[in-house]
Amino acid sequence: MAILDRVLTAQGSPNIAFIKYWGKRDEKLILPCNSSLSITLSRETFHTTTSIMLSDKFKEDKLYIDGKEQDLEREKERLWILDEMREKAGTRARALIVSENNFPMASGIASSASGIATLVYAANGTLELHMNPKEMSIMARMGSGSACRSIFGGLVEWHKGSNTDGSDSFAEQIFDENYWPEMVDSLAIVSQERKKTSSRAGMRQTVETNPLFKSRMKSAEDRLKKSINAYKKKDFGQLAEYIMADSNELHALALSTVPSIRYLNSASLKIIEVIEILNENNGKKIAAYTFDAGPNAHIITLKKHLDEVASALEPLQGKEIIETRTSEVGGGPVMLDDISLIDKKKLVPVRMQAKL
Ligand code: PMV
Repeated sequence: MAILDRVLTAQGSPNIAFIKYWGKRDEKLILPCNSSLSITLSRETFHTTTSIMLSDKFKEDKLYIDGKEQDLEREKERLWILDEMREKAGTRARALIVSENNFPMASGIASSASGIATLVYAANGTLELHMNPKEMSIMARMGSGSACRSIFGGLVEWHKGSNTDGSDSFAEQIFDENYWPEMVDSLAIVSQERKKTSSRAGMRQTVETNPLFKSRMKSAEDRLKKSINAYKKKDFGQLAEYIMADSNELHALALSTVPSIRYLNSASLKIIEVIEILNENNGKKIAAYTFDAGPNAHIITLKKHLDEVASALEPLQGKEIIETRTSEVGGGPVMLDDISLIDKKKLVPVRMQAKL
């Protein structure tokens, strides 16, 4: 039984992949060609807050993101999972969904991962589906692949699986958010523009046109196992090497796809150089850069090296780098009892979040 005419609010966060998911073997169910590995970022630093209200009185679904009403036709590739969940719950009640991110969307910060994971978590509550985390992860995966990892906190692996129905393609927590409290992600924002090629389109192009893609599947699987081992041993130097290698491989793949895709810009390349010099000067790897489908740099490091990383990046601040935000490893989504983003009388969004 769904909860009608009441607002439920959940909050979740993005994740940053150490071993990237790139390429699907099933476009509709979002089944990946390789397994991937990420840390979930802390809700204190990056979050999506989503309120949902279901009602028999609503004629249609409505979705607002960051105050703007969304064209649901354009979002249907992601939002079909809402109908799946409604069907599971045996209701046809329409939904008013209001979602806010405290970071810019579509610029390589995984707003869709955070958004879809939080939506699934909120909808699970309001539809009283009682899905367990694995089931929520599968549902989130079908909305936006990397979202399946944001259902969990800590270090998370998304098993690629092999079943055609996707039943064995889900995320799992490997270590919780307290396992390595020293670990941080300093996000250097160099652009807040929407990326030109979505990750969905970019992956499709890569799978279809890039002969290098085949070798990627094996190298990603190997690196993933080694990364889990390095994380287990808290061997930062080893882990840093795998993180950077995997990011470089993804962007080399993008570049060699036809037509060529470039997610990095000149500021991203400068940051890569700064981090490589920093590591060289230290005689060991104290920081790792990694980029998703966008130019913003995630610098993974340990708390004790944060000052050093900050001074190395200092010359770029205010020029190439617009702002830096540092996040610890965070937990999975939660329900927020005392917050509503929906004005229940007017049925419109209540704006409450400060942007970066
Ligand atoms: O789940 P999507 O469609 O947002 O794709 C995510 C792709 C990368 O961010 C580049 C890699 C990853 O594993 O997060």
